Amino acid sequence: MAATIPSTFLSASLLLLCLLSASRKGCVAFEQQELAAETHHHTLLVSSLLPSSVCNSSKAKYSHNPCFMTADWPFGDCFYRQKVLLHDQARVNSIHSRFANTVNNVKEKAATSIPAMSGSVIGSASYIVTVGLGTPKKDLSLVFDTGSDLTWTQCQPCVGYCYQQKEPIFDPTQSKSYLNISCSSSICGSLYSATGGNRPGCSSSTCVYKIGYGDKSFSVGFFGTERLTLTSADIFDNFLFGCGENNQGLFRGAAGLLGLGRNELSLPSQIAQKYNKVFSYCLPSSARSTGYLSFGNSGFSNSVKFTPLVTLSGGPSFYGLGITEISVDGKRLSISSSVFTTAGTIIDSGTDITRLPPTAYSALRTAFRQGMSKYPMGKQIQILDTCYDLSSYNSVSIPNISISFSGGVEVEIAPAGILYVISPSQVCLAFAGNNDDSEVGILGNVQQRTLQVVYDGANGRLGFAADGCS
Ligand SMILES: *[C@@H]1O[C@H](CO)[C@@H](O)[C@H](O)[C@H]1NC(C)=O
Ligand SMILES: *[C@@H]1O[C@H](CO)[C@@H](O)[C@H](O)[C@H]1NC(C)=O
Ligand SMILES: *[C@@H]1O[C@H](CO)[C@@H](O)[C@H](O)[C@H]1NC(C)=O
Repeated sequence: MAATIPSTFLSASLLLLCLLSASRKGCVAFEQQELAAETHHHTLLVSSLLPSSVCNSSKAKYSHNPCFMTADWPFGDCFYRQKVLLHDQARVNSIHSRFANTVNNVKEKAATSIPAMSGSVIGSASYIVTVGLGTPKKDLSLVFDTGSDLTWTQCQPCVGYCYQQKEPIFDPTQSKSYLNISCSSSICGSLYSATGGNRPGCSSSTCVYKIGYGDKSFSVGFFGTERLTLTSADIFDNFLFGCGENNQGLFRGAAGLLGLGRNELSLPSQIAQKYNKVFSYCLPSSARSTGYLSFGNSGFSNSVKFTPLVTLSGGPSFYGLGITEISVDGKRLSISSSVFTTAGTIIDSGTDITRLPPTAYSALRTAFRQGMSKYPMGKQIQILDTCYDLSSYNSVSIPNISISFSGGVEVEIAPAGILYVISPSQVCLAFAGNNDDSEVGILGNVQQRTLQVVYDGANGRLGFAADGCS
C-alpha cells in the first residue's frame, strides 16, 4: 500500500526565464526538449530554451503555474533567477555550518553529536505538496524538504507576522482535533535536535518552538498535535507540528514546510508504523509536469537501484550517501575516491544546485568544457562559472553526465539536471564547487529532476531509477 500525493514545481527554478526589457517584463516558462540522443551527447533545441508563454502577473498569482510565487517576489521577476542562486548559497552555507564542528571524515555509524547551529535554510526549496490538516480538514500547500525535520504551518492568530500564502491561514481554534503540547512533556524537549539546536520555549505552560533559517527566515509558535490527512486512506492522528504565529521568509505562497529528514519528529518517522520510513518522490522537469511524493514501498518501480544510506557525523538529520565516481560522456573522471569520502555527501530536496568537493568539480568542469568547446562561453553568474552563449544556435549538443554511488549504482543525470538557464545567452552548467574538500557535498534538486528517488530509512538505503516523471 502506498499514499501518493502529487507534487508541484513551485519555483520552476530551472524553467523560469526572466526578460529584462521593460516592455516584455515578466517571466516566461520554457521546456527543454530533447531532440535526439546521439551516442553520448544530449541534443536540445535552443528554441526550447526560449519563451513559450509569457506569464500574466494578474493571472499568475497563486495559480499552479511557474509564475506562482513571483507576485510577491521582492526583487521583481527579472532578478528572480539570480535571487534563487543567492538563496541556494545561503542554504548551503547553513548546512555547512551544521557540520562545522565535526572533523573532516565520514563516520558510517549513528552520530551522537547534536548540531548546535541555527538550522537549515529553506532557501529556494522548490517543490510543494498539498496535505490536509485538522478536523474538518483544511488543505495546505507545504514545501517538502528532506533537509528539515519539523513540519510547521502558519497559524492564526498571527501575533507576530504571517507572510502571504495561497490558502487561508490555518486556525487551530476551528479544528476539533488540535491540541497543545505542554512544556512539561518530554516530546517538547525533542524540538532541540529537530530544529537544528533551538531550545524550546514555554508560554502559559504551552511548548513553544522556534526554527530559524540562515537567510533570516523563521517560524515561531506553539508545538501541537493535529490530524494529518495525506490521502483519504492515510489519516494520522496526533501528528506533531509547529503552529506558527510569527513567520517570516520567502516561502512563496506555501503555507509552511513538510519535514522529511531523519529526526524522530520528521513526517517519515512519525508515520513509521505504517510506512516504515519509506518514501519516494519524483521532481518534475518543468512547471507543466507534475511529480509526486509517495509514502510506502509499493510506489516504486523494480528498476530502482539502491546505494547504502550513510549517517554523517554532525548531520544525523541528513540523508548521507557515498559518491564513488563521476563520468562525462561515459568517461570516468580521474578523481581520487578520498575526495568524495573526506566530507561525504548528502542528498537534499531543498538545495537546488549540486555542490561537489572543488577537486571533483574542477575535473567535471574541465571535461564538460571540453565537450562544449564548439560553443562560445557566456558570462558566469555567482556560483555558476561555466556558462555558454547559445543565442545564435538552433540546437545544442551537451555532454551527458552520470554519478556513481557506493554499491555500483550509476545514475545518469537527465538533461534538465545538467543546465541552469538564465537566458539563451547565459546557459550554465548546473553544478558548483564547495570552498574546500572538507565541506560536505550536496546532491541538489536540479540534478534529481525526473529521477525516481526512494528513501528507505528502514533498510538504510537510497534508491534511484530513471524516468520517474517527465
Ligand atoms: C494577460 O491577461 C490579459 C487579460 O486577461 C489577456 O488579455 C492577455 O492576453 C494575457 N496575456 C498573456 C500573455 O497571456
Ligand atoms: C494553546 O496554548 C496557547 C497558550 O497557552 C493558548 O493561547 C491557546 O488557546 C491554546 N490552544 C488550544 C487549542 O488549547
Ligand atoms: C551517456 O553516455 C553513456 C556512456 O557512453 C551512454 O551509454 C549513454 O547512452 C549516454 N546517454 C545519452 C542519453 O546519450
